[in-house]
Amino acid sequence: MGSIAWSGKDVLSILDFSREDLETLFETADDFLKRPGSVPKTLADRIVATAFFEPSTRTRLSFSTAALKLGAKVIDLSPDVSSVLKGESLSDTIRMLQSYSDLIVMRHPSEGAALLASEVSDVPIVNGGDGSQHHPSQAMLDLYTIRRLKGRVDGLRYAVVGDTRYARTAASFLYGLAKYKPASVYLVSPEGLRMRDEVKNSIRKLGLRTEELDTLEPVLGKVDVIYMNRIQKERFPDPNEYEKVKGSYRITKSLLSGAGDAIVLHPLPRINELAYDVDDLPNAAYMEQARLGVPVRMALLHLVMGGGAR
Ligand code: CP
Repeated sequence: MGSIAWSGKDVLSILDFSREDLETLFETADDFLKRPGSVPKTLADRIVATAFFEPSTRTRLSFSTAALKLGAKVIDLSPDVSSVLKGESLSDTIRMLQSYSDLIVMRHPSEGAALLASEVSDVPIVNGGDGSQHHPSQAMLDLYTIRRLKGRVDGLRYAVVGDTRYARTAASFLYGLAKYKPASVYLVSPEGLRMRDEVKNSIRKLGLRTEELDTLEPVLGKVDVIYMNRIQKERFPDPNEYEKVKGSYRITKSLLSGAGDAIVLHPLPRINELAYDVDDLPNAAYMEQARLGVPVRMALLHLVMGGGAR
């Protein structure tokens, strides 16, 4: 039942998927994780195209890995050596890719770019990030990581820390969390990086209550999940504004001594907000989070390409 919602669908925002759809995705990812040596080649003879107009390590390569593991072939548009450099428009570029492939995973700095692509493409578009707006597969793997490490998403206490204004990961995570019933959600950011009104209004309409804080310390020891986000220098319209807030937060081993068994998530890449001495603590969950991007993206590709729930 849940898989019908996925088949042939564009993945533009996690808002477009119900909790039941997400559970179908997670159960399918569980199934792929259980059988690492005998993954069914459900995408044999299919071609997945990647088109990243912004840098990426995890999203691009984990989607490629996921597609290859399922038996698909992968083609990659590298904007810096393609006709994008000659001025070809996004819509013409997508028209070309859709005639060469069965699904396109794309990332673009402009908000709404994936939506535009979906309007000109006959094959499904998977949004790997559009400006500050959406990063649906990241939110899906974030929720999946919590589900695996904490056994549930409901009833937990969350702190989303850092750039809650420009980080598409923070917005998408909250959109996803709004499908569940968290006990509490704290948004920890400097005044200048508070969540945008459009995101606040969307999650409020979905019934998600949040509380804004300037610092993490008052809730450290009370939360189960600390979701760190990099302060996104590249998104600030005014570089002086970035200078005012950079380095506002830093999670260290000594800070986490008061965090109990809270897990620390981070979509990565990290800069200074997450010290390397945290890596050895049992709280550090961000490398596992990145690793789980592969089974979640395998499940996503499988379901969108009509593979059905497993
Ligand atoms: N989390 C994430 O989107 O990482 P990349 O920018 O490396 O894809």
